[in-house]
Amino acid sequence: MSANLQIKAITAEDIRARKGQDPIVSLTAYTTPMAGLMDDTCDFVLVGDSVGMVLHGLPSTLGVTMEMMILHGQAVARGLKRALMVIDMPFGSYEEGPAQAFGNAARLMRETGAGAVKLEGGVEMAETIRFLVKRGIPVMAHIGLTPQSINTLGGYKVQGRNEQAEAVIADAHAVTDAGAFAVVLEKVPQVLADQITAEIAIPTIGIGASAGCDGQVLVLDDMLGMFAAFKPKFVKRYADLAPMAEAAIKEYATEVRSRSFPAAEHVFADAAPGAKKD
Ligand code: KIV
Repeated sequence: MSANLQIKAITAEDIRARKGQDPIVSLTAYTTPMAGLMDDTCDFVLVGDSVGMVLHGLPSTLGVTMEMMILHGQAVARGLKRALMVIDMPFGSYEEGPAQAFGNAARLMRETGAGAVKLEGGVEMAETIRFLVKRGIPVMAHIGLTPQSINTLGGYKVQGRNEQAEAVIADAHAVTDAGAFAVVLEKVPQVLADQITAEIAIPTIGIGASAGCDGQVLVLDDMLGMFAAFKPKFVKRYADLAPMAEAAIKEYATEVRSRSFPAAEHVFADAAPGAKKD
């Protein structure tokens, strides 16, 4: 087995204990090198099912499979020593009920070394969350906009506006009472995120929510400007890497076509007998 099964320095219980403390920092990662770059800085690293859209070109997260999550989870685990690794349960791997969810959550943890799983849903997932937590699986919940439900939500809309707010508040309390160690609040009004953060006993992790949440998460490729297909309002681009990569690819092509690459410093001379090899 290639998974890195060592327990990372930061655990789900450490994240839970950060409620109301200094903000929790998190990003998604899907590969070993990127996980390595964020290990010292992030408190937890999420192997998000956004991998399907970001790296595999899928139109939504619905086509992501257990095998994809395991492969990327194993890669991310190899890059982490310190940060907690949380892995998404893909669409269809947990909704049938607690027993299905336990089997797949245990497989994700066993085969990747993740320290916790994340699943989408509030009141309707409370029984499943309770079942997993009671059997040793730390669960991060995800409420508000839940991308695996875009077909019933009618798209990637803000959730919890006006009279919808009570339902999101009920979800937040349900996942807290069920034993989740933290909850992602995605794309909800700021005032609602602040109210939930004040009311519940576990950390809220905002994405398109509020700076008042107990922590924040962003999709890595969004904040690096690598995923150029679209930019949600809640994404801040801390870098603009896609145009840099495109320019580098074009420069390389120009140099190949003009035979200026490879240059003298990139090729190997015949070694003189006894000389040290390159
Ligand atoms: O899959 C993912 O990247 C996520 C984040 C948007 C929270 O669930």
